This record gives sequence, C-alpha cells and structure tokens, in this order.
Amino acid sequence: MPNPLHAAHYADAALQRQVTIVENVPVAEQTYRLRFGCPELAARILPGQFLMLRLERNDPLIGRAFALYQTLDSASGAPWGVEVVYWVKGKFTQELAHCPPGQSLMVWGPLGNGFPADPIAHLILVAGGIGQTPFLSLAAEFLGRRRYGEPARSVPLARHVTLCYGARRAALFAGVEDFQALGVDVRLATDDGSRGHPGRVTELLPPLFENTELPMRVVACGPEVMLRAVAELTAQENVPCQVSLETPMACGIGICFSCVTRVKDQEGGWDWKRTCVEGPVFDAERIVW
Ligand SMILES: Cc1cc2nc3c(=O)[nH]c(=O)nc-3n(C[C@H](O)[C@H](O)[C@H](O)COP(=O)(O)OP(=O)(O)OC[C@H]3O[C@@H](n4cnc5c(N)ncnc54)[C@H](O)[C@@H]3O)c2cc1C
Ligand code: FES
Repeated sequence: MPNPLHAAHYADAALQRQVTIVENVPVAEQTYRLRFGCPELAARILPGQFLMLRLERNDPLIGRAFALYQTLDSASGAPWGVEVVYWVKGKFTQELAHCPPGQSLMVWGPLGNGFPADPIAHLILVAGGIGQTPFLSLAAEFLGRRRYGEPARSVPLARHVTLCYGARRAALFAGVEDFQALGVDVRLATDDGSRGHPGRVTELLPPLFENTELPMRVVACGPEVMLRAVAELTAQENVPCQVSLETPMACGIGICFSCVTRVKDQEGGWDWKRTCVEGPVFDAERIVW
C-alpha cells in the first residue's frame, strides 16, 4: 500500500518544466492574463487543478499556486499551452506583472484533485475576487465546448451553467466575456453598485434556488468569508456544494503542511488535510469553518 504522506503517492502525475511566457497582458484592474507553452501540462491538466509558478531568482524563493484558467491548442488542434489569470497581490505577482514575452518561468503541475465530473443539470458557479479563475475550464467542459485530461475525460453535459461573480467594483471583473462566449449565464454583483446587483454575490443565490426544475450543484471559489456564507446557504436549501480553497501554499506537492485546513471525518471528528493534495476542492459540508 503506497504511503499517502509520500510525494510519489500523489505527485507522480505532475511534471516540472521551464516554460517561456508568450503573453502577459492586463485584463482588468490589477489583473493579468499569462500564457505560456507547455504541451504536456496542457494535455494533462483538469479543471480545478492548479500549478505552481516560480520566477528563476531567489527572491521570492518559493512558488505560488495558480488555477488553470484555460488550455490553448496549437494550429493542428493539439493541446499546446496554458493560460492563468492573476491578481497583483504581493511580491510574486508584482514581479510577474513585469515579465515580458520571452522570459522563462519554472512551472510544476498539474496539482490537486480538481473538480469531479459528476453529472448535474444546473451547475452554479459562485466566484468572489479572483475566484472566477478555476471556473472557465469547468464551464467549458460541462457545456461540451472543451475536453481535458489524458485521455480526455467524458463529462455528462449540464443543461445550464450560471456564474454568480462578485467584486468590490466593476473595474475588477476579469474575463466576463470569456464566460459569456461559452454560453454561461453570467450574473454580477459589486459592493459599490458600479455593475450588476449592488451588494454581495451571495444575494444572487436565493432566486436561483427558487427554480427547482433542474437538479443543481453549487461550486464556489473566493474569500473564505464568502465560501462560508455559500456553504451555509446551500446547506439550508439542501443543494450540494463544493468549494475550491485558496489556502496559502509553499510546496504545492504535499510535503510542507503549510496549506492544512480542518476537514470533518466519518466519525464526527475532524482532521487536518493538505489543501494541495487532498484539495483544493472539498465538499463544503466537510469543512470546519
Ligand atoms: C489552489 C490555488 C489556486 C489559486 N489560483 C489563483 C489564481 O488563479 N489567480 C490568482 O491571482 N491567485 C490565485 N491563488 C492565490 C495566489 O496563490 C496567492 O495570492 C499568491 O500568494 C500571490 O503571491 P504574491 O507573492 O503576489 O503574494 P504574497 O506576498 O504571497 O501574498 C500577499 C498577502 O496575501 C497573503 N496570501 C498569500 N497567499 C494567499 C492565498 N492563497 N489566499 C489568501 N491570502 C494569501 C499573504 O499572507 C500576504 O499577506 C491561488 C491559490 C491557491 C492555493
Ligand atoms: S503546500 Fe506544502 S503540503 Fe500543501
């Protein structure tokens, strides 16, 4: 029986490569889209999985985690590259925002469990802040617009995909058109009322829950306070909910235990789980908030 604490148990599908940036452009306030070529990673990665990026210098020393935004194909239609969307937050992302095309980066992945391919008629995505990033590929997969994995996994198609996306102000929304182009029903909310519903993104959920025609599942990603509110609302309505956690990570491959979160066990207790290998996607009802 493989030792579940040993890196070989979970990181053997991951690869580490030096890649070259082909595009790094602003897409919203303080938000950039990064593209690089890496055919092996593009072929393997699943929606909800992430990768670690590191600049080839000693400061910042450790890598940072970023969700798959989208994979890119070559002219022949083969998976060729990976797209990441990032918010400029601290040291790493400030430096990354200044990296021009042609510069190299270290990348390792795909990492984490990713979103399951369980069938659902109405998939409701709830994003806060930069939490929309893992959802573009998931929406593309459930709407039959793109396939992921090697071999490509089959996903029963959803009848409807809704994105509820909240930001502090309109200028921070990144990629709304990407979701709309896939056919996602996008509903926006801003804290200052500058676009969409004036108020919290969670206020967009109750009207969706009223329409019980199609079985639904909620998947949420964003600040922990938002995830907790989504978990409470879905529990009240008996709607299954998964959350993708953005716990700070150091190694991304299960070794350092910097990313632990409290997860309920079968016996009514809880245990620490590493978000990088046992997550980042968890059933919301299992998280000890
Ligand atoms: C699985 C996963 C997927 C992610 N996907 C994306 C993505 O697609 N786009 C994106 O922009 N970001 C994403 N993040 C968050 C990103 O990894 C962090 O914001 C990263 O630390 C930024 O690096 P930095 O050096 O710029 O900021 P840092 O200097 O590392 O951080 C600045 C401040 O934020 C805090 N912090 C660090 N990491 C996190 C975190 N994960 N959550 C909350 N606070 C944190 C630090 O304590 C510090 O106070 C993801 C995180 C995880 C775990
Ligand atoms: S980031 Fe090191 S164990 Fe999860």
